[in-house]
Amino acid sequence: MATAMIVSRRMYTNLISLIKLGVDLKKARLIHQSTSNFEVSMPNSDPSHHSDEYSFTEFSSQPFYRRVNSQLVDMSGVFNQHKIIDLGCGTGGITKLILDRLNGTKETIIYAVDHSASALRSAVDDLGGRREAVVRFVHSEVQNLATSVNEQVDAVIYCNSIHYVNDKAMLLRQIRDRLRPGGILAFNTSFFEGSHPPESHDFYRRWMMRSLRTLRRDHGMFPDKNADKTGARRQLTPEEYEELLNEAGFEVVRREDFTVQVPEVGFYHISGFRDWIEGIMPGVPLGKGRDALQKSLNQVFKEMEIESVPRIWLTVMAKRAK
Ligand SMILES: C[S@@+](CC[C@H](N)C(=O)[O-])C[C@H]1O[C@@H](n2cnc3c(N)ncnc32)[C@H](O)[C@@H]1O
Repeated sequence: MATAMIVSRRMYTNLISLIKLGVDLKKARLIHQSTSNFEVSMPNSDPSHHSDEYSFTEFSSQPFYRRVNSQLVDMSGVFNQHKIIDLGCGTGGITKLILDRLNGTKETIIYAVDHSASALRSAVDDLGGRREAVVRFVHSEVQNLATSVNEQVDAVIYCNSIHYVNDKAMLLRQIRDRLRPGGILAFNTSFFEGSHPPESHDFYRRWMMRSLRTLRRDHGMFPDKNADKTGARRQLTPEEYEELLNEAGFEVVRREDFTVQVPEVGFYHISGFRDWIEGIMPGVPLGKGRDALQKSLNQVFKEMEIESVPRIWLTVMAKRAK
């Protein structure tokens, strides 16, 4: 009785809708009880790993980045679907774009999947007040999709993350199995063979050289190639992506290249993102890597007298063959 008295009317309604939707409240750990449209199942890990300092949040709120992802969300129409997976959801930028487009007439469920506990916590903090859908945060490797999401869905959106996975054929088969026949897969990436137009090469060469010099001068360090976790990743061509999709049982509906002018502030914020620093400067403490990259960036933009650097995003929409 005492518990019932402190449950507000809104919480009660949300609780009932969660039960209707089949949520296993015993297994779920609700981090924000007052926002019970959010179900979070995460390990009790060391709080020091939840630091936001090197998160993706700043970069993902850049207007050019939101535009390129909005384009994919709009092109694919995933927000018209009932059950959606946001794969590699990070700090929730794409989930937010989907929530913004819901009209509230259906009970949408979004599974937001990521292996980074700190990214998921940022997403929960940021989206905690949203009421448009049930969002289930799933702390898991995308490669475990077959077990981490245990029902078929209508759409999978996978933004700026597919390039992280080495065995894309296996992953695409798992995505196909999670989708109902005719279900949508939409993804984009700016790490594919062809994402760096030739006119951008000089910028990257100068930036990297200067960053390495700054790292040595200011911190007496070099990156350690042996610490590189990205070595086995190979960037695929758009045609190779299409071939893998066809082999995995998809039909490609649309494929487009988007040229985006990335401003200095975009490179500045990506230089503060853990995965970027670790990829470019393996083995270097994150703070020192960030410092070297950000300091040299401004010098290179000045020296080259440029305001932005072009980068190409590959965007693909496919359907699971029936
Ligand atoms: C560049 S961020 C993109 C985040 C989000 N999709 C967006 O576009 O705003 C890539 C995300 O993929 C996640 N990620 C990378 N490899 C993963 C894996 N194998 N399993 C689950 N998440 C992964 C990272 O933790 C990170 O949050």
